[in-house]
Amino acid sequence: MDAAALRAAHPVLEHTAYLNAGTCGPLSHAALEQARSGWERAGTEGRSKGYYERYMAITPRLRDAYARLLAADPADVALTTCTTESIVRVLGGLDLKPGDEVLTAPDEHPGLLGPLITLRERRGITIRTAPLADLAGAVEPQTALVACSHVSWTTGALAPADLAELDIPVLLDGAQGIGAVPVDVDALGCAFYAGSGQKWMCGPVGTGMLWIAPQWSGRVEPQGLAYANLADANAGLQATPWPDARRHDATTIAVEQMEVALAAHDVLEGFGWAAVHERAAALAASLADGLREHGRVVAPRGATTLVSWESEDPPAEAARLAQAGVVVRNLPTTPYVRASVGAWNDAGDLERLLGALG
Ligand SMILES: Cc1ncc(COP(=O)(O)O)c(C=O)c1O
Repeated sequence: MDAAALRAAHPVLEHTAYLNAGTCGPLSHAALEQARSGWERAGTEGRSKGYYERYMAITPRLRDAYARLLAADPADVALTTCTTESIVRVLGGLDLKPGDEVLTAPDEHPGLLGPLITLRERRGITIRTAPLADLAGAVEPQTALVACSHVSWTTGALAPADLAELDIPVLLDGAQGIGAVPVDVDALGCAFYAGSGQKWMCGPVGTGMLWIAPQWSGRVEPQGLAYANLADANAGLQATPWPDARRHDATTIAVEQMEVALAAHDVLEGFGWAAVHERAAALAASLADGLREHGRVVAPRGATTLVSWESEDPPAEAARLAQAGVVVRNLPTTPYVRASVGAWNDAGDLERLLGALG
């Protein structure tokens, strides 16, 4: 892979050691150009028949792109606005009843915990927690669903492989997974995979995806049928939802944003996803080693792209690094500062971070 070309494709890296794709990935020149031309076109052509044709053209292409990355059938992939929306659609659509238990990990992201709280308040489900690594063994007869990260946002640990052997559904929060590490939804053995477009896919905020295993598609009710969800939207009260995952598409996503999401994806796909994943994981592992050599305690992690280390004052350390042109973040309520390492980074970025540590 031409790593220098991948780096040069992302303008923020010209001046910054940008290590924050776990929040939002770097936007590429191609994505920015698509944003400019896409909005320009809408302005000059107006938003009429041609605009609708753009919508009809972009949705299957973006769905196909996400499906390739999930190793999934596009018919099982819904286009959503973010990971959280995908989670909301699954939790709200499943027939979970009072007394049903959802098992999760205590340090999951609010994007998962918030929708679980809603379910507890509205439907009377119970929520129990166990450490991510121990979730499979913590399942009990009343457990109806396991909902957890594919990649932990705090430590970069991977969901344990034994989740694939459970005979109850598993919802994976893939916000830190898709685009960052190889994903094969069948191999993961999950029933649902929720992901973000703006993080490791380097797309715009307001894009994301939801994969639903075919055997679960009939058991997730759509959350209100909008135009995009109807196979025959003009059939009035006789209208019916799409039989495939389009029934779970977001109510609306701007055409321009979907075009940018695809342009961003195409840049990374052009370098080869396998190479992108491999390089990012190798750089992240090397940063973890460098931090240990600097006497830092690195959070127990997996072969992922997130590297968190303990800091006496995480917000102050993140702010100090920002002053040195190194963009990382602290994680509230944890002792950690987190670096998100992408294939677009290089050894110079990692040295800059290590050099700026106190
Ligand atoms: C593990 C995890 N889940 C969910 C989210 C929320 O993602 P989104 O904004 O796409 O809903 C994040 C964002 O940081 C995350 O790290």
